Amino acid sequence: MCLRHDEPRKRPSGGDHRVLNMAGRTQEALYSEIDLELSWSEAELPQVERTKHVHGLHPYLGKYVPQLVEIFLRRYFLPGQLVFDPFVGSGTTLVEANAFGADAVGCDISAFNCLLSRVKTTTYSLGGLEMSLKAALEEARQAGPAPIHTASDWLRTWYAPRALGELLRYYEVASERLDDPAWDVAKIILSRAARSARLTTHFDLDFPKAPTTAEYFCHKHKRVCRPVEEAEKFLARYTRDTVRRIRAFMEVRTERSIGVLHDDARTLRLDAKPHGIITSPPYPGLIDYHEQHRYSYELLGLRDRSHDEIGAAAKGTSNRAVSVYVADMTSVFANAADQLERGAPIVIVVNDSRNLYPSILAAAGLVLEDKVTRHVNRRTGRRAGEFFESILICRVCNT
Ligand SMILES: C[S@@+](CC[C@H](N)C(=O)[O-])C[C@H]1O[C@@H](n2cnc3c(N)ncnc32)[C@H](O)[C@@H]1O
Repeated sequence: MCLRHDEPRKRPSGGDHRVLNMAGRTQEALYSEIDLELSWSEAELPQVERTKHVHGLHPYLGKYVPQLVEIFLRRYFLPGQLVFDPFVGSGTTLVEANAFGADAVGCDISAFNCLLSRVKTTTYSLGGLEMSLKAALEEARQAGPAPIHTASDWLRTWYAPRALGELLRYYEVASERLDDPAWDVAKIILSRAARSARLTTHFDLDFPKAPTTAEYFCHKHKRVCRPVEEAEKFLARYTRDTVRRIRAFMEVRTERSIGVLHDDARTLRLDAKPHGIITSPPYPGLIDYHEQHRYSYELLGLRDRSHDEIGAAAKGTSNRAVSVYVADMTSVFANAADQLERGAPIVIVVNDSRNLYPSILAAAGLVLEDKVTRHVNRRTGRRAGEFFESILICRVCNT
């Protein structure tokens, strides 16, 4: 079973390059730490574990598995220390750092991702939260669908009239009835329902290109399916699921602090000095992190900062786009390194298919101490092909 990463491995003969910058740790400890088996099959690490408690609060394409973060927290951090993630995304690092007993801070350029991470990591009075969410849901249900003529063209294109009316009514009722933090939770429930209620096929929820308005053959369910016409059932289902997930996280969460900043990692200055970083950066041309939650931006009126998004798919993979990416990533890691102690650990999870990171790390003042490659088990059938990612274990050496 691969998860037994604590078991020491046999030390390779020869080379002593792995002892670089490992102040305070023995060589034997180091070998047991670095020779990790991190390629888990579905049976070894099932989806229910990868999306445990708040990790499954809302779909998010491009997150890493919490168990990976957990391992590197135990390897390079102590409870009570401050963990920094400059690319917070859906908040995986922050959630795991808190459960581990560390303080955590991070930033993201996407307002939706910050909202999601904040909702995952806020402390709630659960009884009151559940009551007020259910009351908002019931009031919206009784009021019936809202008029849709003032909604944006995008919303009217991507939703059946009844579904859009139900989403808009929920927004109206919840925004009037709920105060923070319940209102923020309601926004995530609304967003998740809006994702499910789009006029799209069941098998293409990640990147639908055009609305589907007629029956279609569903590759996921292996039968003919019809596009969704209502949203209320999703609002009800996700209200229950959200409360359940927040409750489950409350059982493992600690009192440590968590900060989520809507900011640009190239320029962000932190108030406190972190002990180190665990992060997964965007990669050029792979994913549009704003666009994947477009329905949320449209419904909630969130601030769009996609022009500052590094490596967005829309920016392409031309030589120029890749050079801009390298310069941006160098700025992020140089800026981060500048706020850390010499020797601080920086764990970067990335599929560096273009081999860009050696020069990014060198230019940012980091030394690569080790690299572990893992096979990523992709459960969803429509994204074919093998996928590997690397864990780059670096140290700050800039001062
Ligand atoms: C690979 S994802 C991180 C996923 C995260 N580890 C998780 O598990 O959810 C990369 C993130 O970088 C963010 N990002 C892109 N450009 C950024 C910038 N200039 N400053 C801060 N965050 C940025 C994207 O919005 C995206 O959420």
